[in-house]
Amino acid sequence: HPVNEPYRTGYHFQPPKNWINDPNGPLIYKGIYHFFYQYNPLDVVWGNIVWAHSTSTDLVNWTPHDAAIYPSQPSDINGCWSGSATILPGGKPVMLYTGIDPQNRQVQNLAYPKNLSDPFLREWAKIPQNPLMAPSQANQINASSFRDPTTAWLGPDKKWRVIIGGKTNQTGEAILYRSKDFLNWVKAKQPLHSAEKTGMWECPDFFPVSIHSQNGLDTSKIGPDVKHVFKVSLDNTRREYYTIGTYNIDKDIYIPDKGSVESDSGLRYDYGKFYASKTFFDSSKNRRILWGWINESSTVEDDIKKGWSGLQAIPRTLWLDKSGKQLVQWPVVEIEKLREKEVKLPSSVLKGGSVHEVLGVTAAQADVEITFGISDLKKAEVLDPSWTNPQLLCSRKGASVKGGLGPFGLLVLASKGLKEYTSVFYRIFKDHNKHVVLLCSDQSRSSLNKDNDKTTYGAFVNVDPLHEKLSLRSLIDHSIVESFGGEGKACITARVYPTLAINGDAHLYAFNYGTEDVKITGSAWSLKTAKIN
Ligand code: FRU
Repeated sequence: HPVNEPYRTGYHFQPPKNWINDPNGPLIYKGIYHFFYQYNPLDVVWGNIVWAHSTSTDLVNWTPHDAAIYPSQPSDINGCWSGSATILPGGKPVMLYTGIDPQNRQVQNLAYPKNLSDPFLREWAKIPQNPLMAPSQANQINASSFRDPTTAWLGPDKKWRVIIGGKTNQTGEAILYRSKDFLNWVKAKQPLHSAEKTGMWECPDFFPVSIHSQNGLDTSKIGPDVKHVFKVSLDNTRREYYTIGTYNIDKDIYIPDKGSVESDSGLRYDYGKFYASKTFFDSSKNRRILWGWINESSTVEDDIKKGWSGLQAIPRTLWLDKSGKQLVQWPVVEIEKLREKEVKLPSSVLKGGSVHEVLGVTAAQADVEITFGISDLKKAEVLDPSWTNPQLLCSRKGASVKGGLGPFGLLVLASKGLKEYTSVFYRIFKDHNKHVVLLCSDQSRSSLNKDNDKTTYGAFVNVDPLHEKLSLRSLIDHSIVESFGGEGKACITARVYPTLAINGDAHLYAFNYGTEDVKITGSAWSLKTAKIN
């Protein structure tokens, strides 16, 4: 790994240089995975947006191609913004995406592959009818809040449906359009879904999940054995929220299950950095895969110095938890083929107040999975009823604040002597006769560089630590740490920029700063560098 580029990643998706943001139009075609993304070919900051394009056979190693969609028509002359792929009958992919027109209005366009016999889909053409959907006086759509079409789905009436993110005043909306032929689109009277005071809904996503299995489903699937997921990216807070609910196909509206709305206590794919995400159905392996953009926590000056900005999270398989109340996510299994030199942590007791170095892994580029065993909850701290915000709780009780059961977990990207480290850890509270499990990712000591955003993140994890496995997996990759608590029930992604704990000088520790002992077992692997672009 080049010494002068300590923050470039070894196995996360990024181009050689410049700015990237949202994942666009992911799909699989003739056994090849396609990934497109918002890219500035000219600069390290946002602007001049085109759809850059890479392909892969394994979601791990990626080959770059020329930009697939770039300004070339009046309807996208000022930018080719986010959009999604739909696989039409006969297996033909098409893209719906937002174009910025000469009046800087947001409009929706269609692009299609020029040559379907090219599995790499290297060339894309646009239809002369673009734009297919545009704001107007008549339809009351706001020209600066009308973007990011989803994958379309086909209803039982043989009409296609698509939603586009929007807002009216401060009400976020999933604007619904229908079409018989994918060319003529008619706006529905009602949005598929909306919520007051949430602001602009960017990058909506809407898809079915199976009630009975972890398998993914085609986006058009409906029926008694599915629930639907609705996700939005909130421009105001730069956070994503999802709900699980019911798609009423007769009324063409989505109804979230009770108690799950976009709010401070809403469900998130990731309780750290993760935005503008998008799923697709991988028909070759019957799974639904989630892509998400991870931006920088460094200053623009530092981004200019390093010559790039933005990454994509490791693609995650996602499915409905058996409770039916939340999703579960796990890094695609293919990432495990980068594992080498497994270091087994023999089952042992991590005494209260102790730190153990995990030796023998390349700690700057690793995959760690640990299971914690707790036998006695008596010493767990009592949860104050006012502690409802997990991020705030993690900020108040960072890794150095001792507790009863916890904090215990990992110190990653740590320097010898612990001048720098990022801590990912659990704290267990008791709340009457049940336990509340808190997962934190504390970046406050991650770098001696004071200019980075070192916000602490936190999430409650819906596991019962006495009767279920309490595990933590972290994917560590130079300047990113993606953590999965409760076997994928809560995920936290953080960006960090150590100045000492870089490359061979990075270390990995397991720690327990609680008063009570915990049992640990698990493995750590060095991860090979993937071939990315
Ligand atoms: C989300 C977003 C989208 C838009 C794109 C522009 O990050 O703002 O709403 O289509 O990025 O690059």
